[in-house]
Amino acid sequence: MNMADQLKYKEIFSQSVNEPDVFWGKAAESVVWNKKWDKVLDDSKKPFYRWFAGGELNTCYNALDYQIESGRADQTAIIYDSPVTNTIQKISYKELLDMVSKFAGALNSLGVKKGDTVIIYMPMIPQALVAMLSCARIGAVHSVVFGGFAPNELAIRIDDAKPKVIISASCGIEGKKTLPYKPLLDEAIKIASHKPEKCIIYQRPQVKAEMMASRDLDWNDLMKDAKAVGCVSVAATDPLYILYTSGTTGKPKGVMRDNGGHAVALKWSMKYIYDMKPGEVYWAASDVGWVVGHSYIVYAPLLYGCTTIIYEGKPVGTPDPGAFWRVISQHGVSVLFTAPTAFRAIKKEDPNGDYLKKYDIKCLRYLFLAGERLDPDTYHWASDMLKIPVVDHWWQTETGWPIAANCMGIEKFPIKAGSPTKPVPGYNVQILDADGNQLPNGEEGSVVIKLPLPPGCLPTLWQDDKRYLEYVTERPGYYVTGDGGRFDEDGYIFIMGRIDDVINVAGHRLSTGAMEEIVSKHKDVAECAVFGAEDQLKGQVPVGFVVLKAGVDRNPDDIVKELVQMVRNELGALACFKEAAVVKALPKTRSGKTLRSTMRKIVDGKDYVVPSTIDDPATLDVIAQAAKTIGYGKK
Ligand code: COA
Ligand code: AMP
Repeated sequence: MNMADQLKYKEIFSQSVNEPDVFWGKAAESVVWNKKWDKVLDDSKKPFYRWFAGGELNTCYNALDYQIESGRADQTAIIYDSPVTNTIQKISYKELLDMVSKFAGALNSLGVKKGDTVIIYMPMIPQALVAMLSCARIGAVHSVVFGGFAPNELAIRIDDAKPKVIISASCGIEGKKTLPYKPLLDEAIKIASHKPEKCIIYQRPQVKAEMMASRDLDWNDLMKDAKAVGCVSVAATDPLYILYTSGTTGKPKGVMRDNGGHAVALKWSMKYIYDMKPGEVYWAASDVGWVVGHSYIVYAPLLYGCTTIIYEGKPVGTPDPGAFWRVISQHGVSVLFTAPTAFRAIKKEDPNGDYLKKYDIKCLRYLFLAGERLDPDTYHWASDMLKIPVVDHWWQTETGWPIAANCMGIEKFPIKAGSPTKPVPGYNVQILDADGNQLPNGEEGSVVIKLPLPPGCLPTLWQDDKRYLEYVTERPGYYVTGDGGRFDEDGYIFIMGRIDDVINVAGHRLSTGAMEEIVSKHKDVAECAVFGAEDQLKGQVPVGFVVLKAGVDRNPDDIVKELVQMVRNELGALACFKEAAVVKALPKTRSGKTLRSTMRKIVDGKDYVVPSTIDDPATLDVIAQAAKTIGYGKK
């Protein structure tokens, strides 16, 4: 960007929050509408807000058909790079449209129509994107479930989303392991009360799934006879997808995303946050099962005419810590977006960057990191190695795109390690104290966003307006993010971590409440506390303390092993729940509240103050002792 057209953050930000109608109305001109909106922002039902009310469009049309009409037919839309199967496949926009319009036709032929729900439980293969875009094409609402979730978690989502059809594959490949998906899917459907009419299975060569003749259909057979269909016009406010995320209880929250606001916000973000140009290669090294995958593997790059990468591999071990550099140099990646944990994994195996030296990655302009706090050590390492801006940015499944970032397409601010810089235009971020008063710069409190949230953020939770209200009624007029943090004297924001029972394990958002519910089900457990302990590689890992029922005299190690297995079976291996200790009692206040934050400090080896409200101070010594036995606490 030359100085003449250097945009100024302050002016843009101020218009975005003071005149959101004008600001987003202008941004919306970049999207193709079938019918223009009546109102940019409909705030007639506060605290429920709707963007582009009265407008109609189709997200798939904007992502594919429009790109082809604009001359991108032969440009690569998707690069499927799979070191685990030794495959590199390039799919042009035209080829992708052919696949999507046919698969959309196949869904139609099974009776799936506008407003119906479809669950997608798939690994990182192009068919996952085809399935998502096909739903968007016919106005069906997709809900992608991360492949690492166990059948029980999938069943919970099936019962909530009530899909007409489930789309899956015969297996996923995790590093060196091949994981059959079909038995997990069958088990989930068995557990769920809602039964889908049909399941479509993509048979991968590595594993052949057994099919149930009355219910299961082979992806390839369906495609042979499928007739291509066009785009269905949907309301801007109609749901595009549901994405379940962890709340503080065992019941996940179905974040709903609309069509209009989502397309506008994501397209805007590609230019102003990521400084991308249409035609360039954008790589979000995440998974389609997470929000980063939805927004920045699938929708944003295609809506903006970029090439996106589906990478079926890991940062290390597939085959080595040079994997990311290989992909960047081989495919000419301009922007890489991943989670800090991926960089910690690379740093651990290749601290001096020897693998990096083997590749020419001059094409890479920026590294964007999100999903968890970017610790200053990892920031400095990445920045020293790559010698390009390493941009920390903060967001949530609920918002769908960044809340705070150093917007590379607006004004490049000096980077401060540990801070995702400043609120992104559209997000009026504030810090409140326990009584709801705004705190001055420098003081830490609850991070909130003044309503309305910008386009692209959740308008509500799937068929659960009541639970959505929990976000916006705790502090009337604000959306409560659940994160704690502060602004510094220069207006930089620092996000210090969740102030609720949500934890981040290797960039994966999990609920300790959900794990406690599972652990409590064990026949010998009287009560338990699970919380996040600091971890060098994964940021946080769950650790549990368990009190046994009176009279249980079994070997505690056996009980812990069973608990670990239960969480693995019911939630999934991705929870990484591997450590727990049996204790006589949990530390509690006199009113019976478990002192989790004090326990967390003990486990992390930090100094703590014995709370004045504690019932029995000796319980803290018990926790300190138990923490040592599982490798935590003061060394
Ligand atoms: N399907 C099935 N199982 C999965 C899975 C999937 N899609 N993803 C993870 N798992 C399993 C793993 O196989 C592992 O099982 P194990 O305990 O039997 O070994 C477990 O879940 C934990 O996986 P993971 O957290 O990925 O740990 P790891 O040690 O295999 O790898 C990292 C560590 C840091 C390399 C890896 O976590 C990583 O790449 N993180 C980046 C995360 C990311 O991109 N997040 C997206 C948010 S932006
Ligand atoms: P998810 O919904 O999985 O994207 O997780 C959202 C949560 O991850 C946020 O509420 C934060 O706690 C955390 N998070 C995401 N990005 C960042 C970041 N850049 N810095 C600090 N925390 C982050």
